[in-house]
Amino acid sequence: VILDRHNRLSSSDLQSRLKNIDLGNGRVFSADQITEFVDQMQVYEGAMYEISTKLEILDDEFQVRFSHDPIHHMERRLKSINSIIGKLERKGLAISVESVKDNLFDVAGIRVICNYRDDVYSVSNYLSSQSDIQVLRVKDYIKNPKQNGYRSLHVIYAVPVFLSSGAHYTPVEVQFRTIAMDYWASLEHALRYKTDLPDARLSEHSQTLLDCARSLQNIEVQMQNIHRDINGAPQVGEA
Ligand code: GTP
Ligand code: MG
Repeated sequence: VILDRHNRLSSSDLQSRLKNIDLGNGRVFSADQITEFVDQMQVYEGAMYEISTKLEILDDEFQVRFSHDPIHHMERRLKSINSIIGKLERKGLAISVESVKDNLFDVAGIRVICNYRDDVYSVSNYLSSQSDIQVLRVKDYIKNPKQNGYRSLHVIYAVPVFLSSGAHYTPVEVQFRTIAMDYWASLEHALRYKTDLPDARLSEHSQTLLDCARSLQNIEVQMQNIHRDINGAPQVGEA
């Protein structure tokens, strides 16, 4: 199952949104810059579809060969123009297509939610070893969780998108995580935007969330072991 967080890109919609962006001092994008932006967003969208198709093919193969679906579901999204501009501004970077290409690696994003931790590593390893794509960066917050308890495996891939002008290697950020990690991250994300709560309650909730992250991790190891046992695979130690 693939959940699209947005409709497919519409170039006319994108064009009208770009026309209305205020670049400061009343400046706006030129017609050429708008065309360049729209073209580049289409390339990001293509890259996102390339990677999600590869993931679906891997999932189908596992289903056929092992009667096991490693991927529970996927979510994909393109960063909106407003978020792109906002992020460039926050980082003090130039507002241009060149700047997006050089600095933002998460314009195309896919979240792969797996049943078990073993699935996270097998799916990501099989994808990473495909000869037509490159691994640009790996952040393993499963082996090294963040201080707040966040766990996920982040990989930035570069995938060739073939246009009339040739192959354009385009980055896609893929977040691999288990159902439990996703469950946790959704609540933590919601808490992060609850800035209207008193500080004492926020920090109490953050502490509870950290405890939840640890409990979920232990539950995951136990359930993974049951799953391995009934499938004849070796056991893992406690995390
Ligand atoms: P930015 O993209 O600028 O944030 O930096 P980065 O690319 O170095 O960040 P990183 O790879 O660590 O994380 C990118 C994405 O992972 C975020 O946009 C979130 O979707 C997710 N993420 C990272 N840390 C957390 C976290 O603590 N909680 C939650 N809920 N999500 C997180
Ligand atoms: Mg990022």
